[in-house]
Amino acid sequence: MRHLLSPLDFSVSELDKLLDLARDIERHPEKYAKKCEGKKIATLFYEPSTRTRLSFEAAMLNLGGSVLGFSSADSSSAAKGESVSDTIRMISCYADICAMRHPKEGAPLVASEKSRIPVINAGDGGHQHPTQTLTDLMTIRSLKGRLNNLTIGLCGDLKFGRTVHSLINALVRYTGIRFVLISPKELRIPDYIKETVLEEKGIRFRETDSLEDAMGELDLLYMTRVQRERFFNEEEYIRLKDSYILDKQKMKLAKEDMLVLHPLPRVNEIATEVDDDPRAVYFKQVQYGVYVRMALILTLLEIA
Ligand code: NCD
Repeated sequence: MRHLLSPLDFSVSELDKLLDLARDIERHPEKYAKKCEGKKIATLFYEPSTRTRLSFEAAMLNLGGSVLGFSSADSSSAAKGESVSDTIRMISCYADICAMRHPKEGAPLVASEKSRIPVINAGDGGHQHPTQTLTDLMTIRSLKGRLNNLTIGLCGDLKFGRTVHSLINALVRYTGIRFVLISPKELRIPDYIKETVLEEKGIRFRETDSLEDAMGELDLLYMTRVQRERFFNEEEYIRLKDSYILDKQKMKLAKEDMLVLHPLPRVNEIATEVDDDPRAVYFKQVQYGVYVRMALILTLLEIA
């Protein structure tokens, strides 16, 4: 039995297969409409979510399966003090697969050790968010036509942003990848990622605090929200929350075929005036997220 806890749990060739399957689902959804009949997914969300939880649920429903779960820690037995290990043992009796989001780094890993069903990490604290990464890879591959030879700007909260951490881990396995890490100095990428993922693997990157300076060289700009819930200090959040606002003016500095991605939710780091720009693909990204989660469910349940 396999779980998905980190984007590295799949090799590059397994990922390619998964993305091919997602593309086939996009083209021929009717072929897959009954593949999961009689199967259930449990969505165990101890932290708020709109997209991720609903996209898992939509994915399972599109496959003909059904869904159960909870969407906040307060409405589950966690509020009574039940451990993740006990919860997962019980869920294993109710469902065939589960997706778990938790504020504590490593909670899905702990769950997987006691689980009798595949566990998908749907975001653990500031650590990883592998299914967002699958979504991002599908978006890039579909709209850029490749996952190599790209200069990628990652902008915003690079310290706490788990989507960024997972995406870097996944992309360094392709060739010709260069990163421009755009953040205020307080929200720079953690040293453990810089040292063990970027420097050790000889990946080209530079750090800057200026979005304007970086714009012209980027093939992709991955914008992120300042992660308010992970700050220890509200004043610091207020000081940093508007560090970057992508607007029409800044888009003029970008290449004509640069794509703007965002895992969403957006607060105000992308002005709504950018939404109509054909290079803004964050709402398309949401749609790819459903196909890729359908492909993931089929893969982990070993349904051909
Ligand atoms: C992200 C997350 O939860 O990490 N959202 C998502 O799943 N699409 C990004 C965020 O909350 O800023």
